Amino acid sequence: MSKIAIMGAMPEEVAPLLERVENINKVEYASNTYYEATYKGKELVIAYSKIGKVFSTLTASTLLEKFGCTTLLFSGVAGAINPKLHIGDLIIADKLCQHDLDITIFGHDHGYVPEGAVFVETDAKLREIAKEVALKNSLKVIEGTIATGDQFVASSERKAFIESTFSADALEMEGASVAVVCDALDVPFFILRAISDTANDDAGVDFDEFMVGSAKISANFILEMVENIA
Ligand code: ADE
Repeated sequence: MSKIAIMGAMPEEVAPLLERVENINKVEYASNTYYEATYKGKELVIAYSKIGKVFSTLTASTLLEKFGCTTLLFSGVAGAINPKLHIGDLIIADKLCQHDLDITIFGHDHGYVPEGAVFVETDAKLREIAKEVALKNSLKVIEGTIATGDQFVASSERKAFIESTFSADALEMEGASVAVVCDALDVPFFILRAISDTANDDAGVDFDEFMVGSAKISANFILEMVENIA
């Protein structure tokens, strides 16, 4: 049977999951807390990493290598780039990139380092499951590119750069690093985000207002997906 990792970056992103799962067993490891649990007969390990690419890399690696998870689902919030995305809307990443990875001085593309790739693709089967869940619940989901970087973007200028360079639909701070880990270890993964702000100059204010609500929307969707994963 599959063992499903569900991770977020912040406590608010995993709290709605922990409220609904059963048989929780807390495990402290590598300066973080991992919650083994079950949901509708499925084995889960839930954790939030803390914000950013480094912490999320550590948590994703731990979920796969120490806890032996065979699928990873990420739940959280993002800033919208695509104008079709509004607060509370869901985006499924079909691929992710690191918008702040920059060795362009050596003639490389933005987001590229030798032996890496600008974009990492998510698992197509998990995306299909998500689309079925969306259809069943009459929920709108957009499938697109998510750009990740170690910065909270609250600038229309930076947002425009990320849009024009990567054709990204949304941005956040962990997805691409989790993608790199799962891709390297050949574990199917899925990144879901609900919009908390539009990454413009007032993004900080919107984030504070909408983050908790959007995190719940994402977490509830992820739990419904869990029921449909074999
Ligand atoms: N997550 C949610 N909103 C964000 C933003 N504006 N920048 C980076 N990460 C985010």
